[in-house]
Amino acid sequence: MIQGRLGQLRPAIAVVLGSGLGGAADDLTDKVTIPYRDIPGFPTSGVIGHAGELRVGKMGGVDVAIMVGRVHMYEGYSASEAAFPVRVLGEIGAKTVVLTNAAGSLNPQLATGDLMLIVDQINMTGTSPIDMNTQRETPFIDMGRAYDPQLWEVVTRAAAKTINRPLHLGVYVGVKGPQYETPAELKFYRAAGGDAIGMSTVIECIAAREADIAVIGVSVITNMPLLEHGASHQDVVSSGSEVIPDMKALLAEVLANHHHV
Ligand code: HPA
Repeated sequence: MIQGRLGQLRPAIAVVLGSGLGGAADDLTDKVTIPYRDIPGFPTSGVIGHAGELRVGKMGGVDVAIMVGRVHMYEGYSASEAAFPVRVLGEIGAKTVVLTNAAGSLNPQLATGDLMLIVDQINMTGTSPIDMNTQRETPFIDMGRAYDPQLWEVVTRAAAKTINRPLHLGVYVGVKGPQYETPAELKFYRAAGGDAIGMSTVIECIAAREADIAVIGVSVITNMPLLEHGASHQDVVSSGSEVIPDMKALLAEVLANHHHV
């Protein structure tokens, strides 16, 4: 159904854009836009259920599929529903997915406006998108190199070429939310080895690995909850959108180079 609408487009790489980052998909050319409600099975039963769409087109001459708007577990979706967009990307041929998100800093070195390349994750949602009823070789997916180390270099090189802000390497903690963390929880996640925290990505990463899709993760640090004694959604959204031009440039450069691994 989706394939039929893509014409000549064959996106081997896909992107999921996080909160406030939708603008990074504005420059696609030869674009096909498919509202989520037109995708069979796409979860729409959420509490908030805001609109989203899949855009497939070209960025810097490279075919790419971009999910603008994701499905969060805090909206009432199951882990399996949260993973659905990534499964769709796999179905249309994506071999690599770039998961982006807005995240709070847990590490004093990571300031608002910085980027963090995710090198590993801690799934604190207590759930998994892996469905035991699916016929497959094994449900015991290896997460040892969930964020492909070969792709880290592609991103760090692309960042050196395109952006004027720090790109740190760090561990992303994924929680269910929707409430932000207490100071005690933040200290706990920091002590556990987390560098940034957010309410997405970890479930999608697991689903991508199950589908043998390589994962790149990029967090935009939108707030510093330990330092700021809490978090505000307003800050998260506004700091996220400030980074859009850099995120666009970084994605275009990653797209141009991701196959050179
Ligand atoms: N905590 C959890 N999720 C977030 C944060 C935070 O501080 N910032 C952006 N997403």
